[in-house]
Amino acid sequence: MPIQKPYEQKRNLASPNQNIAPLTTEIDESGKLMVGGCLLSDLASRYGTPLYVIDETGLRVSCKAYKESLDKHYQGDSLVLYASKANSSLAISNIINSEGLGIDVVSAGELITALKGNLSPDKIFLHGNNKSDEELLMGYMNKVTIIIDNEHDVKRLSNLIPQNADPARLMLRLTPGIECHTHEYIKTGHLDSKFGFDPENLENILYKLKSCDFAKLEGIHAHIGSQIFELNPHQDLAEVLGESLKLAIEIGHPIKDLNIGGGLGIKYVNTDNPPTIQSWVETVAHAITKSCSDKKIHLPRLICEPGRSLIGSSGVTLYKIGSRKKIPGIRTYLAVDGGMSDNPRPITYQSKYSACLVDRPLSPTEEVVTVAGKHCESGDVLLKDLAIPRSSNGEILVFFATGAYNASMSSNYNRIPKPATVLVQNGHADLIQRRELSEDLLRYDVVPDRLLAVI
Ligand SMILES: Cc1ncc(COP(=O)(O)O)c(C=O)c1O
Repeated sequence: MPIQKPYEQKRNLASPNQNIAPLTTEIDESGKLMVGGCLLSDLASRYGTPLYVIDETGLRVSCKAYKESLDKHYQGDSLVLYASKANSSLAISNIINSEGLGIDVVSAGELITALKGNLSPDKIFLHGNNKSDEELLMGYMNKVTIIIDNEHDVKRLSNLIPQNADPARLMLRLTPGIECHTHEYIKTGHLDSKFGFDPENLENILYKLKSCDFAKLEGIHAHIGSQIFELNPHQDLAEVLGESLKLAIEIGHPIKDLNIGGGLGIKYVNTDNPPTIQSWVETVAHAITKSCSDKKIHLPRLICEPGRSLIGSSGVTLYKIGSRKKIPGIRTYLAVDGGMSDNPRPITYQSKYSACLVDRPLSPTEEVVTVAGKHCESGDVLLKDLAIPRSSNGEILVFFATGAYNASMSSNYNRIPKPATVLVQNGHADLIQRRELSEDLLRYDVVPDRLLAVI
């Protein structure tokens, strides 16, 4: 029977995205799993389950890896933005800020989390393909950079910004014609994407913006996809962005920034083999440098905005095992106390994960189970064919690499409250998001008086 012990693998201490388990994962003298110096079973008892756990060391190492690699491989200025859609909270914003990174946000909620999380507005970048007036105004009033995605953004900014007021700091998002899937990519002239301006409209929009007093276009942006394992797509992107940058400069815009987006993948299962953060940055930095030198333009400030590869590998989720259903000759379901509401990725993208028992990670595997969630949905399956020791009801199971797009994509399906998040480091655990209570879910319900009238 295959044995799946991600924490036993030789770990890359410099690039956490290459490990399934968080950087600080270890096994104590009694054979139990620890992260950040904390026993995972203790965390489950203390904070309850399901529980998101974030390894602060791993997150900080990833931030430093991006920053230091850019300093090493890029001659111009640079800025790393954390794509906060991956996992947004006040504590995480504070960590990101303390590491000297900026943040990319996509909504008023992410924007306020960045601002209240102490990010300076000049390090906040507001995205969105359908920003509300409230979001545009909030971005403008707080002097953050707004990434215009379409003509609608331009039109509404022109209505929202008073005449003779300071112009909005803008970047322009381009659809670069590079389409990425995890293991393959294609280049097309025209991309079927809801995001950004088509390259053939670029010249028009650049001329139009030049005549807009409310607009100060400072940069060009593109993002080609997520969980990418190849380096070539970003090389191609650098070339496309270099051309757009040159055009914008020739038209007279005060361009200083080039944002190449995020997208570097992480290891979820043993067969995943993403490049290191260092090699991704080196490739991008060299490609932009070459593209600018070929086109005889100054090196822009190079911005990138990774999400998953900054935080994904530093998060785990703890679940308590509950019911078991054996279907002879077919499969054994092991149900846990969470599922698609705290991790919608398997049901949405058929994403694969690695998992094990927190207190018996080294015990020999005895059975193959399918880990099911507790939601009223047959597809609520977190992991198919997990080889583990025979487990008992109440044991704690850990899922690895759940730091990105789990908490942030969680829902209250079946009115299940969202889990708590704890941050661990050097044997300390701090609650950074408290567990929702069922009563919290009633806070937004309103019952009209007429429904309460006595019949
Ligand atoms: C515009 C933009 N930037 C950055 C990211 C972060 O991507 P990743 O988490 O793959 O690094 C995304 C993710 O979808 C995105 O849409």
